[in-house]
Amino acid sequence: MRYKRKILLLFILLSLWALQREYRFSTKKLQRTYQCWSVNTQPELNLSGWFFPRKISTSTNATTNWLAPVVWHGTYKEEVLENYYAHHKITVGLTVFAVGRYIEFYLFNFISSANKHFMVGQKVIIYVLTDNLSKFPWIQLSPLRTIKVFEIKREKRWQDISMMRMKTISEHVVDHIQYEVDYLFCMDVDQVFMQKYGLETLGESVAQMHSHWYNAHPIKVPYERNNLSEAYIPIGKGDFYYHAAVFGGTPIQVLNIARECFKGIMNDKKNNIEAVWHDESHLNKYFFLHKPTKLLSPEYSWDIGKKRTGEIKAIKIRWAPKYYNILRATH
Ligand SMILES: *[C@@H]1O[C@H](CO)[C@@H](O)[C@H](O)[C@H]1NC(C)=O
Ligand SMILES: *[C@@H]1O[C@H](CO)[C@@H](O)[C@H](O)[C@H]1NC(C)=O
Ligand SMILES: *[C@@H]1O[C@H](CO)[C@@H](O)[C@H](O)[C@H]1NC(C)=O
Ligand SMILES: *[C@@H]1O[C@H](CO)[C@@H](O)[C@H](O)[C@H]1NC(C)=O
Repeated sequence: MRYKRKILLLFILLSLWALQREYRFSTKKLQRTYQCWSVNTQPELNLSGWFFPRKISTSTNATTNWLAPVVWHGTYKEEVLENYYAHHKITVGLTVFAVGRYIEFYLFNFISSANKHFMVGQKVIIYVLTDNLSKFPWIQLSPLRTIKVFEIKREKRWQDISMMRMKTISEHVVDHIQYEVDYLFCMDVDQVFMQKYGLETLGESVAQMHSHWYNAHPIKVPYERNNLSEAYIPIGKGDFYYHAAVFGGTPIQVLNIARECFKGIMNDKKNNIEAVWHDESHLNKYFFLHKPTKLLSPEYSWDIGKKRTGEIKAIKIRWAPKYYNILRATH
């Protein structure tokens, strides 16, 4: 009898424990669902309220043929956007990878210029992924800005660094970024913000026109042409050539981009193929299949080594000089 009672007691205790576990689990899940909802229900501002396409030049339109805006300097009303986001508070994320010598050559200028020009007046979280935490520079941040630093594994070849980037981004979006920001940009570290990089750049999926190819016919651009590669785009197809130095969107869209690109890269690897421009080729394939909802003009990532044409009115970001040129100049 006493034995039976003990068993019963044990059973009750076990059930209580199981219930409690179940309950804790479901409140956590509920919280997550709620967070997901509250992050993703931000309505985007009506395009017609802030975007005023103008004829840029004979070779460039301010709207794509799938009606996505191409944001050039002077096509947007800053006051309208700022007014709107004053009442719809958002947080914008920015991921940047800095490994090896890129840390000392670029990271300080990238972050301190982003601190000054990226999403002024908005909450910003900069996610730095680096292979050497001890080299991280000291940077005084303005209010509303946060930096989160994460250590990543060292890769030997830069091609692998750029390709593993897609995997790392998707892991971090799943893990925490999706709960922390409303919009996310992923940028290369060898760039410097020159002036206001603002709300006009936000969108569900955002692609950067490449400053070398923005007015080239799609036949001429360096898409992957090997039909065995996942990044293959047939000659005559394609819209624009996009630069992998900048892409963005809502966290969920960025997750799709990064996951699909990584899948393509790994399938190619299995077949011993490496696309001509690595993750950029796969990004171009992604945006060929899933059209971006917003394009940024080359003013948003300009190669200052290139002759400036009349269309380029205001440079928001410039490419930093390549570090092997810096080395040559200082030795
Ligand atoms: C958004 O734009 C559409 C078409 O231009 C218009 O019909 C609609 O009223 C606008 N909505 C708001 C909230 O301004
Ligand atoms: C620009 O728009 C015109 C008219 O809609 C179209 O015929 C032309 O192909 C477009 N140009 C580009 C580069 O998309
Ligand atoms: C990280 O940087 C520090 C300081 O420059 C250096 O001493 C150390 O060797 C580096 N670690 C690795 C793993 O490269
Ligand atoms: C792929 O390209 C090769 C060589 O360029 C060509 O012979 C072959 O027919 C192509 N295959 C397909 C399915 O297009």
